[in-house]
Amino acid sequence: MASRCLLPAAGALMLMCFLPAAFVVLPGVQTPALRGAKAQGGASFANLSMASIATTTAAFGVAAAVVRSRSREGKTAAKYTTQTILPSLAWIKTGVRASELQPTELKALTLAGNDVLIGKTEAGALFCVGNLCPHIGTPMSEGADVIGDVIVCPLHGSSFKVTTGELIDWCVSPPIIGPLTGLIVDKKNLLIFECRQGGFLGSGEVEVLVDTNAKKAYEANYWKGLLDAQGKDDGTYY
Ligand code: FES
Repeated sequence: MASRCLLPAAGALMLMCFLPAAFVVLPGVQTPALRGAKAQGGASFANLSMASIATTTAAFGVAAAVVRSRSREGKTAAKYTTQTILPSLAWIKTGVRASELQPTELKALTLAGNDVLIGKTEAGALFCVGNLCPHIGTPMSEGADVIGDVIVCPLHGSSFKVTTGELIDWCVSPPIIGPLTGLIVDKKNLLIFECRQGGFLGSGEVEVLVDTNAKKAYEANYWKGLLDAQGKDDGTYY
């Protein structure tokens, strides 16, 4: 990006440097430099041209060095840890008021690296669950149904209680294929998050209690596995 911005600037710099040289060498163009050079003879004229070319080359070198150094600065430094990252819970505002949600309506959000789904049961009670189905990670927001206080995954029909995350049915559809896909993954409950309505007497935005270190912990685990596989960490991943 920085390189793209600097290239036109380098071009303009070169143009500014080449212009005097062009005026000196173009026949019929009478500049003060040209008139002076002509008056002093051919040797001075040649010296002037050489000086212009040398200035241009130097300017081009400087511009190229600036472009190289800027592109080096633009690269993201690799920063990672393989340490155990402890949870850090915090109430995060969602930007959504509970009154904006209708019963059975769902809204997907990413809060401090956590994929969550806030919604209302058929009776209008507010809830917040993980958006990714524990089967193979399909986003529930892509067509999940809320029936009573149960949410049903759109892909294989797994269903979970929204208040506790408890598994009710595991991979029931489509017939034969759904249950077969269910065999390859251990049954799990759905993640749930505490939520509340902020503001005076609950008139404000919906807030969700999330682990703000969740992304960092996930990445640390990833790096630990990667480095342990190469024999470069403490070997406790496997
Ligand atoms: S992805 Fe949700 S049940 Fe298979």
